[in-house]
Amino acid sequence: MPKHFQAVKVSEHVYWVGAVDWVSRDFHGYSTPRGTTYNAFLVMADKVTLIDSVKAPFREEFLTRVASVIDPVDIDLIVSNHSEMDHTGCLLDVADMVEPSRIVASPMGQKTIAAQFPGRPEVDVVKDGESLDLGNMELRFFETRMLHWPDSMFSYLADDRVLFSQDAFGMHYATCERFDDQLDPFVLDYEAGKYFANILMPYSPMVTKLAGRLGELDLALDLVAPDHGPLWRKDITGIVEKYARWAKQEPTMKAVIPFDTMWGSTEKLARSIAEGLHDGGACSRLLPMSGTDRATVATEILGAGALVLGSPTINNQMFPRMADILAYLKGLKPRNLIGGVFGSYGWSGEAIGQLTDALGEMQIEVVTEPMKHTFVPDGAVLEQAREWGRGIAEEMGRRIG
Ligand code: FEO
Repeated sequence: MPKHFQAVKVSEHVYWVGAVDWVSRDFHGYSTPRGTTYNAFLVMADKVTLIDSVKAPFREEFLTRVASVIDPVDIDLIVSNHSEMDHTGCLLDVADMVEPSRIVASPMGQKTIAAQFPGRPEVDVVKDGESLDLGNMELRFFETRMLHWPDSMFSYLADDRVLFSQDAFGMHYATCERFDDQLDPFVLDYEAGKYFANILMPYSPMVTKLAGRLGELDLALDLVAPDHGPLWRKDITGIVEKYARWAKQEPTMKAVIPFDTMWGSTEKLARSIAEGLHDGGACSRLLPMSGTDRATVATEILGAGALVLGSPTINNQMFPRMADILAYLKGLKPRNLIGGVFGSYGWSGEAIGQLTDALGEMQIEVVTEPMKHTFVPDGAVLEQAREWGRGIAEEMGRRIG
């Protein structure tokens, strides 16, 4: 049996048998400059249980890690906590090879797996609060609908005090290390926040409920094991508290300014607006869409107080890169922001109205008239832009208090 991929023991009865994806730089539109991992777990109970699997191209790595602990055919039970394809990519292969006595998933998980693999494999439903007998221990399940798919659920192994949390509390970060305390806390904080902003922000109300429920359950926890990135064993309280805080989307004196420019005039306005925001006590993140990916913009918006959009007009439209980021942000449903719109244009300037409409569709209140100008802004116009930025900062200050 090859030994080039080994399992990692993460608790008394649990092994990590996932895969490290060092190469991925784009996860369905989410930039992953640090790669990612697909975590799967083997519970060495009397009934050996596999929790989730990995993305299909990583089948060999995953099975080799399983085989470093046990002959894969000895897997008795399979639990699917989340049926997105980065976790069910090897489900069919494993089910065919192992012929487990049962595969279990949430009610929606059963439907999703049936839709992905019509006719097979057979999946049994486990309900919220139900337990699965592993012989000498048991797994308990908690439905976590829409965190971040309808099928999502957590599994809890009381014997080892481990919570298997599928995507929640995860991050895209390829490492050889498996635990939070082995890694740079600043990187963990950024990548966990980025993951929250891009995957979980639309479901913030459910995250708030989850945080409350975890508090009520008061589970004894030595390990939180998500399906991506490191496992939390040192700072479990910290990551749960961060989720509760991020889900509130409390605004701060920070303005995020995604903009594009054609001949540099909208950029000039953006720079002056940032100066004005600073005058008014806010910090700015000027994000040129010519070189900023969507996931970075979303990450900056987490905890911001204003979204200020700038675009020239081309062929009666906003710049296409602005349309791209707005389609992305609209789906993430950021809350507690105020909005503003600016841009330079030649004659008709339709982008201004289109950006304003986009903010309205996102339920972001536009708090001031647009800062618009035809062709190249001179010093007087740039001073107006600076004042305009200061006005947005002052409005943010009034609302944040
Ligand atoms: Fe990691 Fe929602 O899949």
